[in-house]
Amino acid sequence: MTILPCTTRQGSYEIVIGRGVLRDAGTLLDLRRKVLVVTDSGVPASYARTVLDASPEGWLHVLPQGEGSKNLDQWQALLSELTAHGFTRADAVVAVGGGMVGDLAGFAAASYMRGIDFYNIPTTLLSQLDSSVGGKTGVDFAGIKNLVGAFKQPAKVLVDPDCLKTLDARLLYEGLAEGIKMAATCDAALFDLIAGTDSLERDLEAIITGGLRIKRDVVERDTDERGLRRVLNFGHTVGHAIEAAAGGSFYHGECVAAGMIACCSDTARARLLPVLRKYALPSSDPFDTDTLMSYVLHDKKMSGQKMTLVYVERIGSFEFRCIPAEEVRTYIDRYKQL
Ligand SMILES: NC(=O)c1ccc[n+]([C@@H]2O[C@H](COP(=O)([O-])OP(=O)(O)OC[C@H]3O[C@@H](n4cnc5c(N)ncnc54)[C@H](O)[C@@H]3O)[C@@H](O)[C@H]2O)c1
Repeated sequence: MTILPCTTRQGSYEIVIGRGVLRDAGTLLDLRRKVLVVTDSGVPASYARTVLDASPEGWLHVLPQGEGSKNLDQWQALLSELTAHGFTRADAVVAVGGGMVGDLAGFAAASYMRGIDFYNIPTTLLSQLDSSVGGKTGVDFAGIKNLVGAFKQPAKVLVDPDCLKTLDARLLYEGLAEGIKMAATCDAALFDLIAGTDSLERDLEAIITGGLRIKRDVVERDTDERGLRRVLNFGHTVGHAIEAAAGGSFYHGECVAAGMIACCSDTARARLLPVLRKYALPSSDPFDTDTLMSYVLHDKKMSGQKMTLVYVERIGSFEFRCIPAEEVRTYIDRYKQL
């Protein structure tokens, strides 16, 4: 078991990583109070049940699976449940699921009585590596992702790689894309581990720990996302445009994978391509430059403005390039010619 302390301006907490830590939820978390365990219908029920069984006064709330649940109606349903059971500031919400459950349950915990304790037990690779740490919570609104939300640091995060055994391979690999992104910008040794492993299953715990160390370090130095935290956007400028153009047919991590290829040097690309191939992640997309640019410019809202692009010249390092939004076209054009 590894314990990573995380200290932000909003408080300190521990990230506990290890196979089987879910079983120890009763001793690792303070469940001797009212506890609302939130999960979704696609997460194996036994994970939330383990936490519920360890909670003398616990209730279970199961959301319909999928991003469509990350909305104010479901948030309101959670608040109604907390109110109906008489939760006070001394009580707690526990998320058991992927990033959707964590973001929504975290936002309910952030807003109920101006904030009650929130524990996160992420069960997808994306949420274990990335979304469970950093304190961003919220819901989608008016068709815009994560438009409404709050920064709310969890009281503790339990990361159990054994929960990933039930995840399908495509979801596992799209989550790994975020790990590749972190390693490509910040940790060449972690990149080598991901690239070279002959058993992802065996090395998952080390990869998750390495990724979380990076995320933790970045968040500690830039909790409010004003500077360094933007490094986590490597691959996202073009990746978001691909995701929007694809209208849901590609996973987020798959779009980030192709987006990384558009924002790196030839040398870095030569290292990235075999890794993406190894994990069945795309290195290109089917859309033309004009289509992608319309999304980069948010249908012209970004027109004439500067944006920060994360560029990788050499694996394990990065630079911020502050460029006019229109200049992203140069990067996309070059990537389209590969
Ligand atoms: N807060 C942040 O910093 C942050 C960062 C990145 C992404 N996000 C958010 O995270 C969400 C995406 O997260 P996600 O990729 O985890 O998706 P998700 O939470 O929608 O989970 C994907 C699917 O996997 C299923 N699932 C979860 N755990 C499982 C398991 N162990 N075995 C089998 N199936 C399982 C779920 O039921 C769901 O159908 C988005 O809403 C995104 O905006 C938040």
